[in-house]
Amino acid sequence: MNETTILYPDKVSPLSRLNRILKGSRYSDAHFIILLDENTYQHCLPLLIEKMDVLEEAEFLEVPVGEEAKSIEIASQIWGALLDMNADRNSVIINLGGGCITDLGGYVAACYKRGIRFINVPTTLIGMVDAAIGGKTAINLEGYKNQVGVFVQPDYIAIEPAFIDTLPSIELTGGLFEMAKMLMLSDNELYHDFCNDIRNNDLAITNEMITHCAHFKEEVVKADPTDLSFRKVLNLGHTFGHALESFHKASNQPLNHGYAVGLGLWCALYLSVKKVGLSLELLEEYQKSLLPIVKHPKYSLKDAEAILSYMRADKKNANGMILCVLLLSLETPYIDVPVDENEVRDTILSLAKLQ
Ligand code: GLY
Repeated sequence: MNETTILYPDKVSPLSRLNRILKGSRYSDAHFIILLDENTYQHCLPLLIEKMDVLEEAEFLEVPVGEEAKSIEIASQIWGALLDMNADRNSVIINLGGGCITDLGGYVAACYKRGIRFINVPTTLIGMVDAAIGGKTAINLEGYKNQVGVFVQPDYIAIEPAFIDTLPSIELTGGLFEMAKMLMLSDNELYHDFCNDIRNNDLAITNEMITHCAHFKEEVVKADPTDLSFRKVLNLGHTFGHALESFHKASNQPLNHGYAVGLGLWCALYLSVKKVGLSLELLEEYQKSLLPIVKHPKYSLKDAEAILSYMRADKKNANGMILCVLLLSLETPYIDVPVDENEVRDTILSLAKLQ
């Protein structure tokens, strides 16, 4: 597996540093192709080009916004467009966007001509602290997320916090939940400060916080690049979160990924209290600080059954068991905890009773 270099926020913009790198000999014959969507074309491309004159001659490929882009049809259209523009093994795809763009662009790059180089420039908070880092690439299949994909590392990841100012507020608040997850796993004190600041409506997302979370992700990925053991801790909140996201999509009430993870984190904390002795105060702290950001429907028993059916299909299950990451305490995750179907029903109905 190739090594990735992450360009973290610093006094000199990571984009300017990437610009210098792409002018170097390793990229002397490179043909740059920028993969973007309508939002990043409009709101992020101007800053990218301003900071990176090396991309002035780059070609663009625009795909639909969001999960719709992560399909085999769109991937196939991109491969066709790459052929039409004579993209070859000197071509480099620059993924400019959130997790959907980096998942799709990495997958497309990994398969085209048996693999061409790519670079991630995340433009969302979730992308900066999680999705763009770690080499997971994928498209969706038959309504299930990330079913077809490969692990493949980008050459570089440039984390430019200035893009955060271009985000709609729901994307920004959604990103807070992936940050919360990273802080629960990595730093007890920072997590409590984060919750207090949110409760007091006083949260500023600093470069230091972004760097802390992204660096933690980088270290986890180095320890377990292909998600066979320790990396599974990053699924905290995601077994329920992905199922809730799929359920809402199928019910024509789409739920932002970050918000789905926010509800999923509550579910993981609730089960952690019940099954592995996490302190109730941590669940209550989450309920008072982060959970109120998400307004969720009152799930019925029928809804709980539908959510359960999505959880049964989760690719992280093993031997027919639903597996979750729980917390013994902050910074002490417990992976692969089997959760039975009644526990899932009880968790969803208990969540529905809140608010
Ligand atoms: N987003 C979870 C992972 O990269 O493993």
